[in-house]
Amino acid sequence: MSEIIDAVRARYADKALQMAKTPTADACCGGASCATDEGSAIDSGNAYGADELKAVGIDPAASLGCGNPTLLADLHPGETVLDLGSGAGLDVLLSARRVSPGGHAYGVDMTDEMLAVARANQQKAKVGNATFLKGTIEAVPLPDASVDVIISNCVINLAADKAVVLREAYRVLRPGGRFAIADMVALEELTSEAKQRLDLWAGCIAGTIPREAYVGELVGAGFVDVGIETTREMGLPGVGKIASAYIRARKP
Ligand SMILES: C[S@@+](CC[C@H](N)C(=O)[O-])C[C@H]1O[C@@H](n2cnc3c(N)ncnc32)[C@H](O)[C@@H]1O
Repeated sequence: MSEIIDAVRARYADKALQMAKTPTADACCGGASCATDEGSAIDSGNAYGADELKAVGIDPAASLGCGNPTLLADLHPGETVLDLGSGAGLDVLLSARRVSPGGHAYGVDMTDEMLAVARANQQKAKVGNATFLKGTIEAVPLPDASVDVIISNCVINLAADKAVVLREAYRVLRPGGRFAIADMVALEELTSEAKQRLDLWAGCIAGTIPREAYVGELVGAGFVDVGIETTREMGLPGVGKIASAYIRARKP
């Protein structure tokens, strides 16, 4: 389990250092990081509008996700949002604008190098109502019932124990709080070789679970009104079939 977290942290530390050096270098190619070492890339599928990106002045290459959870979440002024695995901060900064005035957006990430990029992007975007916290999504550094909406973009698949993460999401949500994320799911059983590969785990592939299992984990954590909508499917030779998905649920 710790070797998974080490592999994930190493990959995203490396990505963050690349971003810090050449912030826009990947823009033409989608800037994907969730990928196999052979180069099959997962990306956010141009899910962000040009206007909203312009408003925060952040290059789309800052997204290492597989969708745009800020659209799914239907955010309102005054709300508190938490992004699990906030990366370079794009979804936090977009959310912060949507919950303004009166609201606040938090991002939690375990990778120091990524937190540094996110905080630099925040300064560039001049967004005051956002905070990037160091921590893991297995032990979120926020109190019980302190958040209205949880978003996340291509991160929960990276966790070795999804049940722990989803229980933690439930804990920090207020009653009635929404869970609205983008993630990868498995459409068929992945090969056992693929599941052993740490590069495929860090690349958002080997840690994917089937839709039915995701629903089961959410219900097991206490969520209701669970829905999963797959968007783009990918067949990876020798690995299996996966898809990006939008996943919603609610804390009763
Ligand atoms: C695929 S990137 C996605 C980043 C961001 N959500 C986006 O859409 O650009 C995964 C991010 O999640 C962070 N991460 C992965 N596992 C984590 C964990 N268990 N706890 C905290 N952060 C984690 C990584 O450091 C990385 O920044």
